[in-house]
Amino acid sequence: MAKSPLTFICQSCGATYSKWSGRCDACGAWNTIVEEQPLSAGPASKSLGTKRGKGMVLTDLSREEAPPPRAASGIVELDRVLGGGLVPASAILVGGDPGIGKSTLLLQAAASFAKSGTSCIYISGEEASAQVRMRAQRLGLAQAPVKLATETNLRDILTTLEAEKPDLAIIDSIQTMWADNVEASPGSVSQVRAAAHELTRFAKRHGVAVILVGHVTKEGQIAGPRVVEHMVDTVLYFEGERGHQFRILRAVKNRFGPADEIGVFEMTGDGLAEVANPSALFLGDREQPQPGAAVFAGIEGSRPVLCEIQALVAPSPHSQPRRSTVGLDSGRLAMILAVLEARCAIPFSGLDVYLNVAGGLRVREPAADLAVAAALLSAREDVALPPQSVVFGEISLSGSLRPAGQAENRLKEASKLGFSTAIAPAQTKALAGEDMALRQYADLAGLVGDIFGAG
Ligand code: TYD
Ligand code: MG
Repeated sequence: MAKSPLTFICQSCGATYSKWSGRCDACGAWNTIVEEQPLSAGPASKSLGTKRGKGMVLTDLSREEAPPPRAASGIVELDRVLGGGLVPASAILVGGDPGIGKSTLLLQAAASFAKSGTSCIYISGEEASAQVRMRAQRLGLAQAPVKLATETNLRDILTTLEAEKPDLAIIDSIQTMWADNVEASPGSVSQVRAAAHELTRFAKRHGVAVILVGHVTKEGQIAGPRVVEHMVDTVLYFEGERGHQFRILRAVKNRFGPADEIGVFEMTGDGLAEVANPSALFLGDREQPQPGAAVFAGIEGSRPVLCEIQALVAPSPHSQPRRSTVGLDSGRLAMILAVLEARCAIPFSGLDVYLNVAGGLRVREPAADLAVAAALLSAREDVALPPQSVVFGEISLSGSLRPAGQAENRLKEASKLGFSTAIAPAQTKALAGEDMALRQYADLAGLVGDIFGAG
């Protein structure tokens, strides 16, 4: 048998190449391309031929389907991100940086599921049983009826799961799993894909929900969770800044529920605690309005979340001024600076610009544009925004403002937290019966002239 040719696979995104290169064209990562035996070296050139297969039974769309039964864990923030609870026979990927708290969250989830009657097996490929037990003790979960094993051999794991028939199996982590039919080292794209493929197939065939833990990797030696995203039903990412207490579990793909939903947790000495009111947390103490700060009334999934956007604008000692963002897309900042410059005649050349979302939240909504612009202007002019005000709205390249979706939810949340003014695009509907003044602008120049007396 001819030996199959080796291929070069990016360990971050799974793109394949016929020869090595330093940078992956598909995802842009450096030094992530590694030589690997491809998973299947089957005949590629032969066509299917003319041999006939079986005819399929086709149905239409009209048949009523009951919604899938769901098992709730009792951890409200987790159940919401899952779309209302765990769907049987589904495969879920939980990705996140090492040390962010994935094992902690899943151990708490396992205990919570087990206590509410969902039988649960936790398989650790990374930590010894004693370590997991110690963590459980620290979290006060030692009495929860969770079954535990330390194993990396996929064949043994599947055999055990088949015999035990749990409702939920947690695999921590997929990068440590090892299938004996694949000639590649554990952690390589081939191994990770093969293990994820077997486990998701097992989930569908045996009606066992599986949760796969995947570390987000910066270096190219270990395959990242992105290479299995397409195989699973639900992809959740656990994000947060190391220095912050807050952790956000975000659904980026969900075949059984809305994507973009978030769950907010706080890392405490006793594990992850749910945060029922994230706005209060992200806002912190706000006594006097500060120049350079704007409160953005955002929406995360189905929930309104208020957060503070902070800007610092200072003369730059460099020929090329710095543009630095934390928690926001840097392309979006460049666009807003360009609009301010071109449509409102407010130049930022020669000025360093730093932008930060307080609390470690990552904001992706275009509706944050206006809050970013307001924070930038407020920092540049050293003028604080009106007290107790929130800002939202999308800026178009022409400088006009576009209304944001779910304005009512945003205004209600702001009102609930004691804000009394909203700066928003024209056509935003005022809240009936609430004490919330609405300052509306058709374009960015209007806001500049009104609040900063220029433009
Ligand atoms: P862990 O769940 O092991 O992270 P991951 O599985 O994503 O790699 O969490 C590790 C960090 O969480 C560790 O630095 C300590 C911290 N931690 C707490 O602060 N409180 C706790 O109760 C626990 C269990 C962990
Ligand atoms: Mg872990």
